[in-house]
Amino acid sequence: MALLEIQDVSLSFGGIKALSDVSLSIEAGELYAVIGPNGAGKTSLLNCISGFYKPDQGRVLFEGRDVIRLRPDQISQLGVARTFQNVELFANMNVIDNMLLGRHHHYKSGFFKNAFLGYLAPEETVHRLKVEEVIDFLEMEQWRKHLVANLPYGVQKRVELGRALAQEPKLLLLDEPMAGMNVEETEDIARFILDIHQELGTTIVMIEHDMHVVMDISQRISVLDFGVKIAEGTPNEVQKNPEVQKAYLGEDFESLMKGESAL
Ligand SMILES: Nc1ncnc2c1ncn2[C@@H]1O[C@H](COP(=O)(O)OP(=O)(O)OP(=O)(O)O)[C@@H](O)[C@H]1O
Ligand SMILES: [Mg+2]
Repeated sequence: MALLEIQDVSLSFGGIKALSDVSLSIEAGELYAVIGPNGAGKTSLLNCISGFYKPDQGRVLFEGRDVIRLRPDQISQLGVARTFQNVELFANMNVIDNMLLGRHHHYKSGFFKNAFLGYLAPEETVHRLKVEEVIDFLEMEQWRKHLVANLPYGVQKRVELGRALAQEPKLLLLDEPMAGMNVEETEDIARFILDIHQELGTTIVMIEHDMHVVMDISQRISVLDFGVKIAEGTPNEVQKNPEVQKAYLGEDFESLMKGESAL
């Protein structure tokens, strides 16, 4: 059974068909990318998985369970974490506190589990330790106590990734994790995504416009164009697909692929 199964999902906004009969299937342990020109429906697809949008038709199955009727917080409780295209954090809270919010769902169960196992550590300590682990993993020690509002955009995006990781998700949805970053920051995030995939074994679905990163780190890629899935395959297959090249013609797919890789 696939970890995530999207079956014939369609979604319209007035006259605009954001998604038309989109189906895809993601196995546990995959690092999967969704690409496509601006307005292709990528974020809408992520929103349908995480419960922020309700498709007009189709099914979204997570671990075999239809989640269409669930609220975003209920889907997140099942083990789906996400980041947003535009960073959504509490700007007047520090890094640790923002990441602690990612532990929200674990609070009660953590408490009972700890009580049952007879641990002496108060529940709060357990969550703080987890957050410190994430801060360590994402090499963010220097910003631990900084207010998010005072951090550069690239670091804020890393905090958001950290909050999602603090959830200990089975499925991590990333909406343009490198957008607005310089080359060095992009390289760092790409490495962290690989580490999350390889070391933590998390299944990842990533939307990203940086073709070098997408082609370097994804195992499979799906391409959306005007709400329609026009291609799916390995990076190599997708790059060679004439339909994909046509969809990117305005942006010149060839030139997107030229130049130095960030990795
Ligand atoms: N809440 C909404 N209300 C109205 N239209 C929407 C809404 N969300 C998305 N759309 C429309 O649906 C289409 C797909 O948008 P979406 O944001 O999913 O594209 P995208 O592939 O993520 O684009 P980008 O690369 O620019 O982020 C667009 O035409 C967009 O204007
Ligand atoms: Mg988008």
